[in-house]
Amino acid sequence: MTTRILSGIRPTGHIHLGNYLGAICSWVDMLNTIDECFFCIVDQHALTTAEDSKDLRKNTLTIAAAYIASGIDPVKNHIFIQSHVPYHTELAWYFNCITPMGWLSRMTQFKDKANKNKDHTMTGLFVYPALMAADILAYKATHVPVGEDQKQHVELTRDIAHAFNNYVDKQIFPLPEPIIKKETARIMSLRDGLKKMSKSDPSDYSRIHLLDDNETIALKIRKAKTDAEPISNLVSDLESRPEAKNLLNLYAIFTQNSMEKVLEEFEGKLFSEIKSKLSDATINHMEPIRLQMIKLLNDESTLIQHLKKGANAANSLVEPHMQEIRHSLNLLLCL
Ligand code: TYM
Repeated sequence: MTTRILSGIRPTGHIHLGNYLGAICSWVDMLNTIDECFFCIVDQHALTTAEDSKDLRKNTLTIAAAYIASGIDPVKNHIFIQSHVPYHTELAWYFNCITPMGWLSRMTQFKDKANKNKDHTMTGLFVYPALMAADILAYKATHVPVGEDQKQHVELTRDIAHAFNNYVDKQIFPLPEPIIKKETARIMSLRDGLKKMSKSDPSDYSRIHLLDDNETIALKIRKAKTDAEPISNLVSDLESRPEAKNLLNLYAIFTQNSMEKVLEEFEGKLFSEIKSKLSDATINHMEPIRLQMIKLLNDESTLIQHLKKGANAANSLVEPHMQEIRHSLNLLLCL
């Protein structure tokens, strides 16, 4: 069976280190082990939260630049915009018709984002996971590399695939596997080690943006919340120190060391020294990516050409899948 990745990022707010480490880095790691890779900029998902749609065009291009600058070759792989492949929304409708509301109301992201007053919560936000399932299943993707916060949505995608196959009594969809890398599954906020780093946090100091310059990265790390204790050499001691754990984990990732090695290096040291080294390691890693992103964003027409090529490949793959799906639903086809 062909192995195929489908994953994506919503073009809302600023793309940050959590998106980069939790999603893009694991995509890059898998590029050579998977037959076909499709990376989507899921712009229609951004419309589910109205406040996010005003900078949609700019954010969409920034995410495309981030994918390419991080090492995803747009010639060998397929980078495209969700709204350029109208089959996603068509398939989402079919899924809406076989997905119980109970499944959708159990989604923790919906519960977090939904308006307290149900009458004022938009339908798009509620059915968002059915559109995400369509993003994945339209491609018959076998692997979905994501951060931990998307695990529940990928599990729901498997449930929807299973329900659809049963409904039409045919094995149309494979059950896609979520791929979640342990070390980068959940990068935490720099201001609160119990909250994930997120585009929607009101404080810019809670996250490092991919377009932050070196001084801003250093400043955000310097201002990151810590505690008063020196570092011990026991990994288990970090369980009660979420902010320290997050900073040391970032250092371990950027220096490609184990947490044990990092604790050996910093045992008894003050946070000022740790932060200064983390700052250097982060800047070393992120600066070339930022510079490449800026270059790509200055040549919008080339970027758009890559996105058109990606959309053509995506439409070509999905078109026959859609015919098979429509046929399985007994829709009358005019061939
Ligand atoms: P989004 O745009 O919120 O996040 C994009 C990716 O970044 C990961 N991520 C994180 N990983 C580690 N630590 C963090 N603090 C962190 N914050 C975000 C997310 O887990 C995700 O992998 N619903 C999705 C977008 C989507 C999608 C899809 C993903 C739509 N269709 C199909 C995969 C396949 C979302 O809102 O991701």
